[in-house]
Amino acid sequence: MIPINLPKIGEEEIEAVVRVMRSGVLTHGLGAGPMVTQFENNFAKFAGVKYAVAVNTGTAALHAAVLAAGVQQGDEVILPSFTFVATAEAVVMAGGKPVFADIDPETYNISPAEIEKKITKKTKAIMPVDLYGFSADIKPIREIADAHSLAVIEDAAQAHGATYNGRPAGVFADAACWSLYASKNMTTGEGGVITTDNAEIAETLRLLRNHGEKTKYTSLMLGYNYRMSEIQAAIGIVQLEKLSSFVAKRRENAKRLSKLLAKTDRLKLPEETDKRRHSWYLYTVRLKDAAEAERNKILEELRKKGIGAEAYYSTPVHLMPYYRERFGRCSLPETEKAAKQVFSLPIHPSVTQEQIDYIGETLLNLL
Ligand SMILES: Cc1ncc(COP(=O)(O)O)c(C=O)c1O
Repeated sequence: MIPINLPKIGEEEIEAVVRVMRSGVLTHGLGAGPMVTQFENNFAKFAGVKYAVAVNTGTAALHAAVLAAGVQQGDEVILPSFTFVATAEAVVMAGGKPVFADIDPETYNISPAEIEKKITKKTKAIMPVDLYGFSADIKPIREIADAHSLAVIEDAAQAHGATYNGRPAGVFADAACWSLYASKNMTTGEGGVITTDNAEIAETLRLLRNHGEKTKYTSLMLGYNYRMSEIQAAIGIVQLEKLSSFVAKRRENAKRLSKLLAKTDRLKLPEETDKRRHSWYLYTVRLKDAAEAERNKILEELRKKGIGAEAYYSTPVHLMPYYRERFGRCSLPETEKAAKQVFSLPIHPSVTQEQIDYIGETLLNLL
């Protein structure tokens, strides 16, 4: 099976882990040991911002960022339903109410016009998601947020290497949250990081990460144990150095696959421009005018032929039992339609040119 994603770990990561283990410094009681500090400095530089705060998952990054933006009980946060559930979880964990807005069917990202329709007196923040690694349309979102004094918390969990107007994804948000989960463009096994240019937000995030402590055993606020370990950070330092080569290989694979799949008009293919570069975390196509059963049949056939194709996300968050029962039904026609028609194909850096050709030809034959 060619898996949909696969971590690419080399001797450098293994040696970095062994060095940390030999050092005996595995973590730091206040949140940032030498490896975590170095990783944060390097990641902030990569993300084009002043501060990076490393945590132990992307979900923790989202939760901490939502709290640092001041979201409290009863506040509304506008976000897409076409995302991984963690985006909505973060809002609920903070006591907020997720308010789902529909997507732009061209990019699958939250639609700025739909966001505007959902703003109320209770709205506190907007959470765009860079779905599949393609940056949300952040400029109009920033303008809407500024006009209504709302925070922008970007879910950049899939966006390592993506750009918007030539700048790294996340720079136009008040805080951007990245995942370092094993499937992502770069990984620390499990891990996350928040990037921001705002010193106050960064300081709050550091407190939230470590029990609200600035000095040991003196909590200044309610906090959590969201610390990243030194081992994770050591892996992250090496992975970050390799990230641009990983993304380049993903891009090369995406281009080759698109050239092949352009032979059919049954698929809408993913695109990028010089101004808005994809991270190519997921290469997602859409089976035009298809019913869900037809998409699912293709997925099944691809898997039988050893291709780990997946549908992200076949159940939008607003239709998941917990969210539907707790927050009520809402109408998101573009989200529901896309959820039935999209599927993603493997293009990660370990997929060879021969495998790309096999994936493309197999799919063309099935269609
Ligand atoms: C869009 C999105 N948001 C949030 C997360 C949560 O990250 P993590 O799995 O590191 O908690 C992920 C990845 O899993 C994701 O893809």
